[in-house]
Amino acid sequence: MSKENNRLTTSSGAPVGDNQHSITAGSRGPTLIQDVHLLEKLAHFNRERIPERVVHAKGAGAHGYFEVTNDVTKYTKADFLNEVGKKTPMFIRFSTVAGELGSADTVRDPRGFAVKFYTQEGNYDLVGNNTPIFFIRDAIKFPDFIHTQKRHPKTHLKDPNMVWDFWSLSPESLHQVTYLHGDRGLPATLRHMNGYGSHTFKWVNDKGEAFWVKYHFISEQGVKGIDESVADKLAGENPDYHTEDLYNAIEEGNYPAWRLYVQIMPYEDAKTYKWDPFDVTKVWSKEDYPRIEVGRMVLNRNPENYFAEVEQAAFSPGHFVPGIEASPDKMLQGRLFAYSDAHRYRVGANHEQLPINRPINGTNNYQRDGFMRADGNGGGSVNYEPNSVDGPKEDEEAKINPFEVTGQADSVDYDSDDHYTQAGDLYRLMSEEEKDRLIQAVVNHMKPVEKDEIKLRQIKHFYKADPEYGRRVAEGLGLEVPEEQEV
Ligand code: HEM
Repeated sequence: MSKENNRLTTSSGAPVGDNQHSITAGSRGPTLIQDVHLLEKLAHFNRERIPERVVHAKGAGAHGYFEVTNDVTKYTKADFLNEVGKKTPMFIRFSTVAGELGSADTVRDPRGFAVKFYTQEGNYDLVGNNTPIFFIRDAIKFPDFIHTQKRHPKTHLKDPNMVWDFWSLSPESLHQVTYLHGDRGLPATLRHMNGYGSHTFKWVNDKGEAFWVKYHFISEQGVKGIDESVADKLAGENPDYHTEDLYNAIEEGNYPAWRLYVQIMPYEDAKTYKWDPFDVTKVWSKEDYPRIEVGRMVLNRNPENYFAEVEQAAFSPGHFVPGIEASPDKMLQGRLFAYSDAHRYRVGANHEQLPINRPINGTNNYQRDGFMRADGNGGGSVNYEPNSVDGPKEDEEAKINPFEVTGQADSVDYDSDDHYTQAGDLYRLMSEEEKDRLIQAVVNHMKPVEKDEIKLRQIKHFYKADPEYGRRVAEGLGLEVPEEQEV
C-alpha cells in the first residue's frame, strides 16, 4: 500500500501527525485545546453506542442466499419466488429476546429468526422466532409483557415474580410457556433450531387470488437442545457461545441451511377453521394444512463488520413485496408500526439508506432530507406529486388485494378463550424424558416466586392443559394440587 493510501487521517481527511501523544505544554502538560485530533477522537468515541434494541438486543448475523426449489406461483406472485432455481441474496439475524446486548447466549428464551430477502421488488423481511406461536395475541399487551421479562425497576434483577404474575394472569401465554420450557427453549446452537414466521400472512397470486400462509424454516442440521446445567455453565464460561459457533461454522465452510416450507390455507377457510387463524398463540394442524416446500436458505458469509451489518440492520414485519401482504392478526398489526418506529429512533430517519438495509433495486420516491441523508437526496429531481415533469409513478399492480372487514369498532377480545387444548397437545406430544425436563425447568423457574397465590394460579392453567402437567408442577413445588380447577 502506498504511503498516501495508508496515511492515518482525521475524519475531515487531514493527515494525523501523532496518534500516540497529545499536544501538551511540555512533557508534564496540561493538554492544549488546539489538539483537534485528540478532541475529535474522544468525542467520536463518546458517540459510538446507539440505543440497543429494546428487545432482541443480543444477536448474531450472517449473509446467504435463498433458492426456490418448488413452484409456488399458484399461491403468490412474489417476484423472488416465481421461478424454481431463482436465487435471492438474504441476511439473517438470530437473537435472544430479553437480555441486553452483552448478555449470555445460552439462556432459556425464544430465539429471534429475522430474515431480510433482497428481492428485485424491494426488501422482504420475515421477522420471526424459533417458535411457531407467541405469548400474547394483542399488541397492546406487548410493552407490559416485555417489562416482566426485563429487570425489576427497584432491584434491577430479573424477577420470576413479575414473569409468573403476568403469565398466570394471561393464560393465552400457556402454549408458548410450554414451548419455552421444553427443549426448544435452549437450542444447542443457532444452527440447530427451526424458524417460523409465527403470524399468518397473506399471499396473492397473479390472478388476484388470496391465500393465508404460515412459514416454517426447517433446519437441515436438525433440531437439538442442550441440558439446562450445560447451558448455565456455558453462560458463565462463554456467554457468546452461539455467536461464536455460527461464526466459526461459516468461516470453516460448514454452511448452515434451512428448508423453507409453507402451510397454505384457502382464503375462505379462515371463516370456518376450528382455530382463529389470526390468533398467534395457535398453530394450524399439519394434517389440515400440510407443509409445502418453497426453497432453501444457505448462510455462507460472515459480516465483515458487526456494527455496520448486524447492529444497524433494521428488520420490519411491514417490509412486504407485491404478492405478500399482512393479515388481520392484531399482534402483527401492532408490529407493522413498532419496528420502523424503533429504527427511526435507534438508527435514524434515513436508516434505509445504510448498505445493510438498502434495497438492491434502489428506491425512487419523494422523501427528502432528514438527519444523515447520505445518498444525494434525489439531487435536483422533482420532490412532489402530482407533477407534470415525469416523476416516479405508482404501479397499479402493486396495490394490495382488497379485503372485506366486518364488525363493530370496539376494544374486543378474540372469540376463543381455549388456551388449553393446544398447550395440552404439545405436552402430550413430548417424550417422557422431555416431559421430565419440561417439568424440571418450570419448577426451577417458578420456585423463587414468593406468593403461593401466583404459583397456584399458574398450576391451574397447567392442570387445565393436562391434569398430569399440573399435578407434576404442583408436586415439584411442594404444593397441594388445588381441588377446584376452575380459574
Ligand atoms: C425486535 C416490537 C412481537 C420477533 C423487536 C423490536 C421491537 C419489537 C421494537 C426492536 C426492533 C429494532 O430496534 O430493530 C415488537 C412488538 C410486538 C413484537 C410491539 C408485538 C406486538 C414479536 C413477535 C415476534 C417478534 C410475535 C416473532 C414472531 C422479533 C425479532 C426481533 C424483534 C426476531 C429482532 C429483529 C432483529 O434481529 O433486528 N420487536 N415485537 N416480535 N422482534 Fe418483536
